[in-house]
Amino acid sequence: MLVSTVLPLLFALAIPSLADFTHHVVLKDDVYFLSWKFDNETITFETQVRTTGYIGLGFSPNGGMTGADIVIGWVRDGAAYLKDRYATAEQVPSIDENQDVELISGSENSTFTTLRFKRRLDTCDSKDNKITQSTMRITFCTMET
Ligand SMILES: *[C@@H]1O[C@H](CO)[C@@H](O)[C@H](O)[C@H]1NC(C)=O
Ligand SMILES: *[C@@H]1O[C@H](CO)[C@@H](O)[C@H](O)[C@H]1NC(C)=O
Repeated sequence: MLVSTVLPLLFALAIPSLADFTHHVVLKDDVYFLSWKFDNETITFETQVRTTGYIGLGFSPNGGMTGADIVIGWVRDGAAYLKDRYATAEQVPSIDENQDVELISGSENSTFTTLRFKRRLDTCDSKDNKITQSTMRITFCTMET
């Protein structure tokens, strides 16, 4: 299931948190929690998702899957994995030759997968969408293995 939502990245509710993230949003109640913070050149995300399968987070120019820049992540046997993909149509996204997302950490327990990763706001890769500190559309999904 792919769901998309428009997020005012800069102005989303800032909930005081134990973590150092400045922005938090619940993309799906009880299931998909997203936090992020900016520095001058990068944006760092943390996804906490109720799944032990795959998580997907996409940045889309129009809220749809076509043209979306998608990060797929998962944890297997204690190791975290991340792939930078892009979607040219409503189909399984292709792997981007330029892997512009950097995995920082990842873990899972019996119910949740937590991944932390960052990317440059502008990767200079035509297959990545530039992220600016304004509204952007986020697409997300979870997939069980
Ligand atoms: C961000 O930019 C400000 C002002 O240009 C600078 O003082 C600061 O050191 C920069 N921070 C990082 C993490 O590059
Ligand atoms: C699993 O991780 C989630 C997210 O960090 C946390 O809220 C939950 O309490 C954890 N569950 C267990 C059983 O440790």
